[in-house]
Amino acid sequence: MDPLLQRLEPFWYPVLPLEQLGAEPAAVTLLGRALVVWRGADGQLGALDDRCRHRSAALSGGHIGSEGHLHCPYHGWAFAIDGRCRLLPQQPDQPIPERCHSKAYRIQARHGLVWVCLAEEPRLPIPALPLAEDGLHRRIQGFHETWQCSPFRVIENGLDNIHHYFVHRGVLDVLSPVPDPMEGGISVTADGLKFSIPLRVNTTAALEATVADGSASLRVERHVRWLAPLGLTLELTWPNDRRQYIVLFAVPRDHQSCTILRFYLRNDREQEVSAASVIAFERALIDQDRRILEAMPAGLDPWPPGEHLIEADQPIARMRQLLQKFLATSS
Ligand code: FES
Ligand SMILES: [Fe+2]
Repeated sequence: MDPLLQRLEPFWYPVLPLEQLGAEPAAVTLLGRALVVWRGADGQLGALDDRCRHRSAALSGGHIGSEGHLHCPYHGWAFAIDGRCRLLPQQPDQPIPERCHSKAYRIQARHGLVWVCLAEEPRLPIPALPLAEDGLHRRIQGFHETWQCSPFRVIENGLDNIHHYFVHRGVLDVLSPVPDPMEGGISVTADGLKFSIPLRVNTTAALEATVADGSASLRVERHVRWLAPLGLTLELTWPNDRRQYIVLFAVPRDHQSCTILRFYLRNDREQEVSAASVIAFERALIDQDRRILEAMPAGLDPWPPGEHLIEADQPIARMRQLLQKFLATSS
């Protein structure tokens, strides 16, 4: 197996929003592996290779029986969430041979997402997101889509404090290409790093629709947190105390593409700022990022050679350094 994909295995990754897992099994790709995930009769979740142990049909094309088992669409073998084959219709009176059972992966529902870990022992727990669980913030379901770029580039872009001025023109009117100083430097945490840095902008119509502040220019407080290996939270506080918390995961599908899962938590109400205006603003913003990221070399390599990082790229340099530790083959 590919050594880098293997190093990325012992972590939890969100693979799709929980609300998308309905009465049908879903196909997802994680670290080069085709998987099927589904919800059994009692609500428990299952994750298996999307390949039947009989003759390799895609189980995601099958159906979930009333007993909660996943039935293969080709010849009807049925698998329980622990991966055991429980029905082999062609020989109902014989014991099911050991080789007919499939391997089940670790799967959990948390923060409104379905999480899978391909390894026996995850190196880090599913990240805690206190604001997603305190009941004080409304949630806006954002984006679930595939980007043709490295997931490391997506997270690095979230730690990049100097691209806004150039990339987000028209959506964000950033006052200067020189970043404001970081407040308190970078702190290393048990599962990544965090730092705070403000962003000063003139208010565009698109931004005003999500802030409802009325000021001509704003100082946005930004608290950024990297959650190893491929998660990021960004807490934005505007002068009127409105707060938006952006939660982003970039999940490696293969060497060329990643799944983007992004949602929002806000401390205001729909009547004040509509979810539609938040999504419209964010759509414009992330499409600008996406154009840059998809035009970069797509390789999954977390340590791309031949780049020349400067002082302002410190969070990215630190992330790359810490990744060496998180992705070490022996922990
Ligand atoms: S390929 Fe699945 S039952 Fe035959
Ligand atoms: Fe950006």
